[in-house]
Amino acid sequence: MYISRPIESSATRSMVQVQCQGLNGAGPSWVPLKQDWSQRWCTLSGLYTADYAERVGGFQTRDSDVFLVSFMKCGTTWLQELSWLLLNQLDFEQSSKSYIMQRSPYLEYSSNSPLIKMDSIKICDDLQSTPRLIKSHLPAQLLPREIWEKRRKIIYVARNPKDVVVSSYHFLTGTGYWRGNMDEYVDQFVAGRIFLTSFWSHVIDFYRMRSEENIFFVTYEKMKEDLENVIRRLSAFLESPDLSQTEMKNLLEYLSFENMKASTYGNPTARIKSTLQVSDDFEFMRRGIVGSYKDELNFDQKRKIDNWTRCCLEEYGLTEFDIFGNV
Ligand code: A3P
Repeated sequence: MYISRPIESSATRSMVQVQCQGLNGAGPSWVPLKQDWSQRWCTLSGLYTADYAERVGGFQTRDSDVFLVSFMKCGTTWLQELSWLLLNQLDFEQSSKSYIMQRSPYLEYSSNSPLIKMDSIKICDDLQSTPRLIKSHLPAQLLPREIWEKRRKIIYVARNPKDVVVSSYHFLTGTGYWRGNMDEYVDQFVAGRIFLTSFWSHVIDFYRMRSEENIFFVTYEKMKEDLENVIRRLSAFLESPDLSQTEMKNLLEYLSFENMKASTYGNPTARIKSTLQVSDDFEFMRRGIVGSYKDELNFDQKRKIDNWTRCCLEEYGLTEFDIFGNV
């Protein structure tokens, strides 16, 4: 059972917080992680009603499905392109003439804004290609139940919260989804009032499940540090054919920030501009680095996020370093 309650926020559209209560209020028994789920709320657009949550929760999966899950701005599109290529015999030709979003649809996209005139759940349902690579930004407890019950493959990518704050601030203000300054944004981010937050429960739940056989957990920082190693491990996880040296070289070049940013289809900026009302300087791929927070957040903002991070991770005996290394 899903509950959706309205909240106040500086988003330009109505926002709700959604919870999954499972049978008799026990939480989602289908998720392998056993914990008290009663504090796990996810902030979503007002279009994400309890009925919508039920549609997503009941989404029917197929044996060959692969789900790519993340909090926003963690390198989803980058990893989606890589995963799609591995699942499709490095079909660069197809990849360079269609948006990743068409090849790998975003399950709950239609709930993000009334400007999005499509039924994204139906699009995923109707997708004929095999295997399907389906993207979702939902936390573990709101994902389709069958993913857990039938142990579908999940690729999860996380990124350090300070860079996510910077990247998501530009994304949400650029797309007109949120209005305010960075101080306000940081406050609302740590208070769980920004789209998709709470950030840490999203990441931590998957981090704690990272040893499950059907989960491939990776970070943006690891992809930046050694993409070749990530490709080899992901390829094994997806049971894709081994790559020759030349194929690896081509793939690395294709996935470089510069190449994807320059490409019509690799960079979703143009497509987003055609669907949403965005600011003139809107750019989906901004800097593509680890540590953009260093010169984009001030001392107080960094300290606020660090203190909150410490507090959230302490409970699990973890530090930010354990998950992301030095950032
Ligand atoms: P920045 O805003 O820091 O530049 P998502 O796809 O989850 O929305 O993540 C978007 C972030 O991933 C953006 O970060 C974007 O630039 C970065 N990104 C996308 N493709 C990339 C690539 N090929 N190499 C490095 N970063 C990439």
